[in-house]
Amino acid sequence: MTELQKTPARAAAPAGGGEPYLSVRDLRIHFDTDDGLVRSVDGVSFDLAKGRTLGIVGESGSGKSVTSLGIMGLHRSKRARITGEIRLDGEDLVAAGPDRVRELRGREMAMIFQDPLTAMHPYYTVGQQIVEAYRVHHPQATKKQARARAVEMLDRVGIPQPDRRVDDYPHQFSGGMRQRAMIAMALVNDPSLLIADEPTTALDVTVQAQILDLIRDLQEEFGSAVIIITHDLGVVAELADDILVMYGGKCVERGPAETLFDSPEHPYTWGLLGSMPRLDRELQERLVPVKGTPPSLINVPSGCAFHPRCPYAALTGGRSTEETPGLTEVAPGHHAACHLALSERHRIFTEEIAPRL
Ligand SMILES: Nc1ncnc2c1ncn2[C@@H]1O[C@H](COP(=O)(O)OP(=O)(O)OP(=O)(O)O)[C@@H](O)[C@H]1O
Ligand code: SF4
Ligand SMILES: [Mg+2]
Repeated sequence: MTELQKTPARAAAPAGGGEPYLSVRDLRIHFDTDDGLVRSVDGVSFDLAKGRTLGIVGESGSGKSVTSLGIMGLHRSKRARITGEIRLDGEDLVAAGPDRVRELRGREMAMIFQDPLTAMHPYYTVGQQIVEAYRVHHPQATKKQARARAVEMLDRVGIPQPDRRVDDYPHQFSGGMRQRAMIAMALVNDPSLLIADEPTTALDVTVQAQILDLIRDLQEEFGSAVIIITHDLGVVAELADDILVMYGGKCVERGPAETLFDSPEHPYTWGLLGSMPRLDRELQERLVPVKGTPPSLINVPSGCAFHPRCPYAALTGGRSTEETPGLTEVAPGHHAACHLALSERHRIFTEEIAPRL
């Protein structure tokens, strides 16, 4: 067991407990480009209830951000083709008009990004921007009320002297403080869904931990549904109730976080787990990246998109290169997409993979 696996899992609501607040079905987001059709997201489905956290993990270019921007309704260019369903509290956002999605964005669902400077304007104070985000959805609020709300939110996310710092410009904040301010802005309207896309990648390790703690505290306080997107399984190890692993625009494995760490079923997940930093190993030993490069999303490899990199593709009698594996339920709530027979997978995991994790 790794150090991270030893950490007690957070007390989680029963899997799938309650009605899903967000329900995504067979989501496909393709872009028409001069080089060809980019299949950035290609048939992703999941449910997320309020009070639960879903971690979406995968290497660079696997479609994590496109999925989240799609949920937020931010791919409305003529070149984007979106099909499937994104139901937010029962309402299908794929079918909804842009005005309706804009109305829900910021109020019912909000997003925080890796780089707060992409979300914050350099020429307005932090306070002005939080006030603006609040007043868009609370037009009846006076300026004084909105400012009080901004100070309250800055205080809530741990900005010292919030009544003074509210008048600072983003560049006067440190990286960690800016990230906190962006979280304050995202939460100012008390959204029911928060998406955090690589919220800590640009920060140093101590600040990363503080921001992750903050997201967890806020989630517990507000009871919202949270999606955390990361290429680092370590980030979601303690935070997520459920994990969805993406590869080449598809979900290759999803299930409760504990199950995914203890008995992962997909060879790509094994690779990700093997590349996860561990506290108890020397640096040179630990970061074993998944060998090879991520697939092109224009010319996606035939069959299982992972086959050019998978050490076990030859064990499936040619199926890996010819037939796309569908997600199958391997245990309650735990799904994986791989042609390897279950007994073979379990043998490989026990004999070859687990001893190295
Ligand atoms: N507007 C667009 N037009 C064409 N292709 C796009 C567009 N947006 C994203 N893509 C492509 O979709 C793929 C998935 O991108 P995405 O940003 O979702 O990856 P990611 O998993 O978030 O990666 P990272 O970890 O680097 O953030 C990439 O190949 C990217 O080039
Ligand atoms: S389907 Fe084949 S190539 Fe894909 S992960 Fe399973 S064994 Fe590897
Ligand atoms: Mg991304």
